[in-house]
Amino acid sequence: MNIYSRPWGKLSDGRIATLYTLVNDRDMTVEITDFGGTIVSIKTPDRNGRITDVCLGYDSVADYEMADGYLGALVGRVANRIAGASFELNGETYTLHANDGKNCLHGGKKGYSHVIWNAETATSPDAAILTLTYFSPDGEEGFPGNLTVKVTYTLDNENALSIRYEAATDRDTPVNLTNHTYFNLAGYASGSVFDQTLWLDAESYVAGDEKLIPTAVKPVEGTPFDFSTVKPIGQDFFADCEDLHLAGGYDHCFNFTDWKDCRAGGEILLRGIVYDPVSGRKMEVYTNQPCVQFYTANFLKNPLFPLKGGYPQRTQTAFCLETQTMPDSVHHQGEADFTNCILHPGETYDYTTVYRFSAE
Ligand code: GAL
Repeated sequence: MNIYSRPWGKLSDGRIATLYTLVNDRDMTVEITDFGGTIVSIKTPDRNGRITDVCLGYDSVADYEMADGYLGALVGRVANRIAGASFELNGETYTLHANDGKNCLHGGKKGYSHVIWNAETATSPDAAILTLTYFSPDGEEGFPGNLTVKVTYTLDNENALSIRYEAATDRDTPVNLTNHTYFNLAGYASGSVFDQTLWLDAESYVAGDEKLIPTAVKPVEGTPFDFSTVKPIGQDFFADCEDLHLAGGYDHCFNFTDWKDCRAGGEILLRGIVYDPVSGRKMEVYTNQPCVQFYTANFLKNPLFPLKGGYPQRTQTAFCLETQTMPDSVHHQGEADFTNCILHPGETYDYTTVYRFSAE
């Protein structure tokens, strides 16, 4: 196991970002920068041992700072949307940045995806570990409470990349942390992911309006949102379905089977499998989070920010599986259909998601 670092380029405030490379004893390498705790590359073998980068990203940290899309980033304090960019908690109103129409998306103007995290590295006989910490002061981006956040990236010899998210607060606050990696198991510059297959252990999904603010929680059964039996991502993509049309594809929160039993520190279960029949690469997703946002990169089309090597951004050439709580749940606290998103002083937010790669 090995982990090494190098300076990776300048941000607009003159600070230098660092790029960390985690290498295991097999043939997997992961690069992560302290800017946004962003996963920059994931190199894994196909069924013939050929190694390819399956993670979409940019060539420079300046692009990560300027571009939209949250490629590879750690997202917080509250990933996904908060309607009207404000919420009430304990009788007080909190105003956030409206950075997605009238709504707040992915933490606001400058969320955790756009700050430099403190980094520490370690290795053990079978793990390369990058520990990132960030102190988010009371009032930052409008959120109440000082939040201490720790995210631990671990690459092991089973070709599993695990991400453990821990946080503690001194006032009640909504918290929803995730990672926003765009994957394409055929390689980041391989085009559409429609032929890659997906299995998701989800019983329901959150339908949204045209701005993707939740309108209802619906069972997946009998809809294009049913991935409980493996099917190609593209199979029902163009189905005559209003919830798909409103989002321009899949961009929905899927609620895992028995999601109400999921809790901080709870059992980490296999919830998703993506498979690319061409390369044979497979990615399993294990988590103790209750939900995952499955997103088919419907907004990935910004001509100003080409991807690594100049490859253009194109919609549906990647998928994201962002484990988390339900969008806008801060406005649905106490409703049986919705997840809790409030962290109280004395509690520990502690969730883990594992992306495990193999080939067959
Ligand atoms: C996703 C979100 C999409 C889009 C994307 C960033 O998490 O669901 O609607 O905002 O982030 O471009």
